[in-house]
Amino acid sequence: MKIPVKNYVKKSFLMISLITISAAFTGCNFLSNSKTIVRISHSQSETHPDHLGLLAFEEYIESRLGDKYDIQIFPNELLGSSVKAIELVQTGAIDYAVASTGNLETFDDIYQIFSIPYLFSSVELYYKVMDDKNFTDNIYSSTEAAGFESVAWLDAGTRNFYATTPILTPDDLKGKKIRVQQSPTNVKMMSAFGAAAAPMSFGEVYTAIQQGVIDGAENNELALTNNKHGEVAKYYTYNHHQMVPDMLIANLRFLDSLSEEERVIFDEAANLCTKVERENWDIQIQSAIDHAKKMGVEFIQTDIEPFRNKIIHLHKEIISENSKLEPLYKRINEIEKEM
Ligand code: GCU
Repeated sequence: MKIPVKNYVKKSFLMISLITISAAFTGCNFLSNSKTIVRISHSQSETHPDHLGLLAFEEYIESRLGDKYDIQIFPNELLGSSVKAIELVQTGAIDYAVASTGNLETFDDIYQIFSIPYLFSSVELYYKVMDDKNFTDNIYSSTEAAGFESVAWLDAGTRNFYATTPILTPDDLKGKKIRVQQSPTNVKMMSAFGAAAAPMSFGEVYTAIQQGVIDGAENNELALTNNKHGEVAKYYTYNHHQMVPDMLIANLRFLDSLSEEERVIFDEAANLCTKVERENWDIQIQSAIDHAKKMGVEFIQTDIEPFRNKIIHLHKEIISENSKLEPLYKRINEIEKEM
């Protein structure tokens, strides 16, 4: 039987990936032509800013340490959903993954901080906080016991609701089934909005909307185009409930295996990854909006206050339940005052 080229390539790729992973699981020190293969998983397409940032990461390392390391990037959840990829980094089956803080929350609850709705009052504040080492250092190292740590953050914009029917006020969310990441705080947020949360992996969202299993989801504008959700959900409402970054996470044993000089290069490459990703972010968001409009998506500007008022009580509630969050919350307020 003839296998369509696209499927064939995808299947071969998957097969190679599985072989590579199983070798890693069995403890093989995986070398190709005596180079160490460094595998990175992410859930976006090859044109997404995350991928472009990772290409810069690859180029930076291979141009300096190319005789020793072969960086391989696996996009499109090819190695598994985001949560699966985090687990693979945890066990050392792969070395790096891009993971949303929403999905990292169950690995260390310090990541809950980013899921607090309306945490940042502006994008400027969000950037300032994310560039503040006092703020990020503790967070980055929080998952050490779990076998991995964050080495860089990537912009993932502002999250808003999109659905098959227009959401103009929080009342329009009542009774709706909305996909969220696999994060308990997001489930809490949706129930405070009066909706039913449907936690599932990113790759399942398109079909779930198409088949009417859910009424909508929440994400940045790139989800409409890069992930084609705009084909099945035609109303995108700017209610600005979260700014949730992506983290580049790395297996600790791998990081510890690097010499001091190599570690410097890998860290510089991680910083470059953030820089390139962020440079591409704003450009791509603008073109995603234009593209989504051509797909027939309506962008709705709405009053965010009713959305905010409905769930602002969650700040106190979430912070009082998790002692790690209070100092981070205070630091955000301090940075805001300094602005
Ligand atoms: C964003 C983010 C991804 C995340 C996804 C999601 O696209 O960049 O890392 O997986 O949201 O909602 O799951």
